[in-house]
Amino acid sequence: MAIVTAQRLVTIERHIAEQEHLHPHATGEFSRLLRDLMLAFRLIAREVSRAGLNDILGLTGTTNVYGEAVRKLDAYAHEVIVRAMEHGGHLCAMASEESDGLIALPPTRPRGKYILLFDPLDGSTNIDVNVTIGTIFSIYRRRDPALTTDATLEDVLRPGCEQVAAGYVCYGSSVTLVYSTGNGVDVFTYDPTLGEFFLTIEKLRIPRRGTHYSINEGNAKRWAPELQDYIDYLKTPSHDQHRPYSLRYVGSAVADVHRVLHYGGIFMYPADRANPSGKLRLMFEVNPLAFVTEQAGGRASNGCCRILDIRPESLRQRVPVFLGSPEDVAEAEAFLQGRHILQRLRTPEA
Ligand code: AHG
Ligand code: MN
Ligand code: MN
Repeated sequence: MAIVTAQRLVTIERHIAEQEHLHPHATGEFSRLLRDLMLAFRLIAREVSRAGLNDILGLTGTTNVYGEAVRKLDAYAHEVIVRAMEHGGHLCAMASEESDGLIALPPTRPRGKYILLFDPLDGSTNIDVNVTIGTIFSIYRRRDPALTTDATLEDVLRPGCEQVAAGYVCYGSSVTLVYSTGNGVDVFTYDPTLGEFFLTIEKLRIPRRGTHYSINEGNAKRWAPELQDYIDYLKTPSHDQHRPYSLRYVGSAVADVHRVLHYGGIFMYPADRANPSGKLRLMFEVNPLAFVTEQAGGRASNGCCRILDIRPESLRQRVPVFLGSPEDVAEAEAFLQGRHILQRLRTPEA
């Protein structure tokens, strides 16, 4: 019996159908949207697993709207998701990290009530070296679901707390889909021989505290002193053996967050002198990862405020991020705001 971790043998199809039945007024539109998205994920997973045999490694020779070099797999994943989603009639807007503004939907197809935002391939620099990468997605319902026109940018720029679903696919030692529709987080593992995602963890919960931190420490000299204090603290042995924390950093946010959700601890991409708003993109990466983290019982902050409450001003907006176990993130916030007990002992108030 292969599917050993779940109590019940549930495919993603069955799970989507069961969830739909929990909503007596559901029209099935959301379920169809998810099914189309799953097809895109299966297509991307197939190319990722054959990377090196197919012509998918390396650069396209172009740059994206952030000035970053586009890799062939970035372009492929973007294209596959657009093609899988644009004809479904479930969407009124779609936007991708790899394109500028909203993606035009075919004029001949009806408009639905959902908005899809995605980072088609997360962790691009790891693609060519067989290190875990991912796809991140975020879904909103338009404010007036009766409208049948294209949604505007204003309809799309909503705080993350209004997401109706969000998740990611992790292309690693296996392909894993982690998502939430606001009722906890479920984890599915892909069986490539059957082409099916099976439920492998029902209602994933993040530990209240972990023993790992995840950050690009190569940027340490550019950090604010408060962040340097926090990282020093994590590395300082404590009497209760709680510290030092261990460092794990893959450089694919999906992979780093995936580990934190399972084992606990904290993932950070902070602001620094070179990147005053951090690096990660609020709409395409941070909001969906924050939604999943909170749904698993974790905390997601920009250092002082809840990520999901941020009112976005642009699709390309970047934001510093600290997410993971609730106690770890609260402790990081205390350091960043200069109110941790160790900092207060060192710098007595005048
Ligand atoms: P993307 O591949 O979608 O551009 O995202 C890369 C991001 C994210 O996945 C990761 O956390 C971060 O870049 C790594 O950045 P550094 O190389 O600066 O650590
Ligand atoms: Mn990314
Ligand atoms: Mn990307």
